[in-house]
Amino acid sequence: MPLQNYFEDPQVMSVNTLPRRSYFIPYESQEAAQELDRSKSTYYESLNGDWDFKYFENVRLIEEEYWLESKSNMIDEYDTIPVPSVWQLHGYDQIQYTNVTYPIPFNPPLVPYDNPAGLYRRTFELGEEDLDKDLHLNFEGVDSAFYVWVNDHFIGYGTISHSNNEFDISQAVKVGKNHLAILVVKWSYGTYFEDADKFRYSGIFRDVYLLKRAKKRLNDFRVHQKFSSDYRQAQLLVDIEGQGIDQVSYSVYNPQRELISQGNTRLRDGIKVDIDQVQLWNSEEPRLYQLLMTVEEEVYIQEIGFREVKIEGTQFLVNGKPIKFSGVNHHDTNPNTGATVTLDQQRRDLELMKQLNFNAIRTAHYPKTAEFYELCNRLGFYVISEADIECHGVVELVGVGGYENYNMMINDPIYTDTFINRMEASMIPFLNYSSIVIWSGGNESGFGLNFEATGRRAREIDSSRPLHYEGWWHRDRQREDNDETYVDMYSRMYPSLDEIDELYLNSDSPINKPFILCEYIHAMGNGPGDIEDYYNHLYHREEYIGGFVWEWADHAVNIHRGTEKEPAYRYGGDHGEYPHDGNFCMDGIVYPDRTLSTGALDYRQVYRPVRLGKADFAKGCFEFINQLFFANLKNKVLLAIEYYDRTGNLSHKRSSITLEAEPSQKYQLQLENLNLDELSFLRFVYYDKQNGYELGFDVATYTTPQFQPLHKNDNASITYKESLANYAVSVGGNRYVFNKGTGALEQISIEEDDLLNSPGQWTIWRAPTDNDRKIKKEWYFANYHKTQIRITNSSIDSHEDCITIFFKGAMNSVSRQNIIHMNITWQIYGDGQVTLDLDGAHNLAFPFLPRFGLMLPLKKDYQKVDYLGLGPYENYPDRYNNVYRAFFSQSIDELYEPYIRPQENGARGKVSYLSVKGQGKMKDITITSEEEFSFNLSEFSTEQLTTVAHRDELVKEESVYLHIDGDQSGIGSNSCGPELLDRYRLEDKVVLRIRFSF
Ligand code: GAL
Ligand code: MG
Repeated sequence: MPLQNYFEDPQVMSVNTLPRRSYFIPYESQEAAQELDRSKSTYYESLNGDWDFKYFENVRLIEEEYWLESKSNMIDEYDTIPVPSVWQLHGYDQIQYTNVTYPIPFNPPLVPYDNPAGLYRRTFELGEEDLDKDLHLNFEGVDSAFYVWVNDHFIGYGTISHSNNEFDISQAVKVGKNHLAILVVKWSYGTYFEDADKFRYSGIFRDVYLLKRAKKRLNDFRVHQKFSSDYRQAQLLVDIEGQGIDQVSYSVYNPQRELISQGNTRLRDGIKVDIDQVQLWNSEEPRLYQLLMTVEEEVYIQEIGFREVKIEGTQFLVNGKPIKFSGVNHHDTNPNTGATVTLDQQRRDLELMKQLNFNAIRTAHYPKTAEFYELCNRLGFYVISEADIECHGVVELVGVGGYENYNMMINDPIYTDTFINRMEASMIPFLNYSSIVIWSGGNESGFGLNFEATGRRAREIDSSRPLHYEGWWHRDRQREDNDETYVDMYSRMYPSLDEIDELYLNSDSPINKPFILCEYIHAMGNGPGDIEDYYNHLYHREEYIGGFVWEWADHAVNIHRGTEKEPAYRYGGDHGEYPHDGNFCMDGIVYPDRTLSTGALDYRQVYRPVRLGKADFAKGCFEFINQLFFANLKNKVLLAIEYYDRTGNLSHKRSSITLEAEPSQKYQLQLENLNLDELSFLRFVYYDKQNGYELGFDVATYTTPQFQPLHKNDNASITYKESLANYAVSVGGNRYVFNKGTGALEQISIEEDDLLNSPGQWTIWRAPTDNDRKIKKEWYFANYHKTQIRITNSSIDSHEDCITIFFKGAMNSVSRQNIIHMNITWQIYGDGQVTLDLDGAHNLAFPFLPRFGLMLPLKKDYQKVDYLGLGPYENYPDRYNNVYRAFFSQSIDELYEPYIRPQENGARGKVSYLSVKGQGKMKDITITSEEEFSFNLSEFSTEQLTTVAHRDELVKEESVYLHIDGDQSGIGSNSCGPELLDRYRLEDKVVLRIRFSF
């Protein structure tokens, strides 16, 4: 290898990089700067685009410096690769997803002998005038370490994948064509510090650009803010570093783009501007001032949101007001491009987050590019910006104690500089962004002296923002001198509500710092089921400052990327890699393509900006409470009112009503002429005033909607035949067959047409959701997926108006004892109606049940339903959030929720009326109940949903499956979070009372 081996040298964090500085782009004019688009600057030259590329399986076996122009005959064939990109998604190397486990042997600072590398080459042109400038080459992200050459001169070396590395290449360039060569190595010493839960991609994955800097210029500047105690006056203070100059001229514009101050200042004095009646920034009202600075040829712009953040006691204050974070963890991930994401994609993510009522983001688990924070400034997000640090894999070493070993690296002084360096890299470029309100010292690296050193350094760099570090929880409790100074809040991930109460929100031993959930409500697959429970339990507790959903988007690989075909998403283990962590990366609240899941809509609903207070139908008076922290509702929300009739159908709607209320204040809405005789409920829907999207709703119920009385058929005579196998009951042209072995409906024939493709079955199995990941082991052990029915008694009786069939028996499973004892009564009436009364007792030696109900495999003609129940989205007992009880008409496609790893989906609960619509001559099947039930109608059997790994591999079957359940268990978030709360478990009594009519 002709290279210096820096990548295994813990002392070398970089070679020849320029000192870290605040991010900025020089422009040639104020107008250009105010376009806020760096590509508009003549001093900025993007080097993105197609580069020559050569992949090496092992950097150590590179014999010559092929990339040098002087040796350019050595490789005549180059591939082409886009920059930025990750090479694994362009056909090179191995795609791999791992969570905690390191993808390489743990042997720091050494990495495997086989260490892949990618050589990138391109040229760029320079003119005469460019040579009067200093040329600074910037890399915003390269995974994991890289060497740079310009015109055969070695320029330097950079590390820390998610950080900016800037090199001065002025000495190496010439007029005309210049050659740039970058060699990226896959594994480096840094790999041990970048063990975040994600696909492990390599390459130049963020933008590369050249800055043409004037010799006389600013090198750095740092914005500070000060406020009067009433926050009416602010002072803007700017420290400036420059070269070749001693004066800077500046101007300041207010959010309305009016010039409010300008002047000249000497560098060493910095800028000082007093701002009267300052228009403050917060996430709801992201008002930005602009600071422009000019030094001869260069103009700089900085948007500034005036805001003060601080912790007082157990509260987090923004401009003196306690706020709560409704946050989300955000990774850079895209199914087509991996860790490479465009600014437009980032903007789209942020816009969607706004639509879902998020006000905060944690940059898990590394910093973003500067432009991301600029968007957060503009759109209004509180950001916890995290350092590119995670050493989680040390808990997976052999024989050293698992999580007992968590602090191994963070407590070892040989790594202190590495930790500090990474913290600096994550802070210094971004100090001027108002949206960043907290710095985070990395993720899942334990606690020890290196965090203490990092925290101290972070405080020196910036004392104006609090520090977050969850690792404190993992401190060695035997050690007496753990230093808590730099842990400004108690942060946890995934504790149960009980644990939170016990440890943090316990009035007997009050905490003296705020409590925050840096991760919670793990949004994997169907779920999360406990959004509302966490909200209800915590949100109004003073010490709780908020939580961050894990996580924003599913990480996946679209194997059809670059083709016209429908995307097909793959996860860990689908690429032949070892080790891998399966679908644990599919845990976003949005799908890989950013389609919203029902979980996302649940979140939006729980965190709606308005809530209904008292509802007085008699007086027509309805109270609305502003849930925001800063904005008056009249500026943010428009209300629409939907009026529902007694059958749960929308009768009419009023829109564009303004609600006027300051934060936490109430607005009284007076409705005239409410026609109570025809009303069942009102749905108040909140829309974003500016963009029109929905933000949530409330329902005020006057009287529960009822289904219209069913049309009664004429009474016909009832006859039956009994065989060894079944009871067959005929009423007019209808025939119902009840199986003696199961006590279930075996066939329904209406005027010669059989409705079922195979016999109905009692069922407790649901295709395990990701949140059933742990409990499903117990379910499988109990053989819940392979139950049998053992009927011990059966009888049939004729009465005056009906026939009664009675079964007694049990549900059990192979090798195990009885699971449920059941008494089943069917009654068949002369008008063709059939009722079922099933009472069951669950053997409590068994785990709680996924569901209990009757499953009917119907002919394919049944593709639509009308129902009166919760909708329009899927819902489960702990997910009754974004739904309301009304009359809905839906198709089988609308009932389906397309989780990428198939699982239970699409249930509709609290149903009292369901009509499954037959096509052509097939009669509708109507099911009603005095007690509410839940149903699913699916083109896929639970067996398929249980065993198929990816949604695009599901095949439509000969039947559609109608599940009528007395109940289902809730969903929870036990994929990573706590166990399902007791109140959502289906245990003890099972009942199903329904009436069929045809
Ligand atoms: C946390 C971790 C995240 C992610 C999550 C599980 O422990 O911080 O990065 O792995 O669990 O999805
Ligand atoms: Mg981790």
